[in-house]
Amino acid sequence: MSPVHEASRVEALLAERPDHSRDQLIPMLQEIQVREGYLSQAAMTELAVALDTPVASVYGVATFYNQFRFAPLGTHVIELCRGTACHVKQSLALQQHLQRRLKLRPDGNSADKRFTVLKVACLGACSIAPVIKLDGEFYGHLTIEKLDSLLDALDRDCYAAEEAGVA
Ligand code: FES
Repeated sequence: MSPVHEASRVEALLAERPDHSRDQLIPMLQEIQVREGYLSQAAMTELAVALDTPVASVYGVATFYNQFRFAPLGTHVIELCRGTACHVKQSLALQQHLQRRLKLRPDGNSADKRFTVLKVACLGACSIAPVIKLDGEFYGHLTIEKLDSLLDALDRDCYAAEEAGVA
């Protein structure tokens, strides 16, 4: 996504929300992340100008809260529940397996950028713990074997698309 495109979405947000006071900083950062999937440098810089706030302050606030991301999401998003019920049911082992298999970087993206793994609190499905959401779909009672099956299926789809010249 080009910086010009990102900036235009920020402009649209600013036009929708006429209150450009500094106490709008966090709500606007949240909204940009909803729309873009992450906070780009271009978006944060544009927001800083619009709110008449130093860019360093915007970065400071954004990096203080771990709800914000600074890299684009991968093609597939895995929300890994690390809530109490899932923790008791070995979600840490799932996390470690994802880390190894996908070669996750500190930003949660896989080395090939196909996957983003987000560690989240309770997904509200404790009765089927441990749980992940994969591209918005819930998968419960997960084991490492079931997780591998899901990832293998996505790999097969990817290779098939590449062979068909779609990817
Ligand atoms: S703790 Fe994982 S769904 Fe509730």
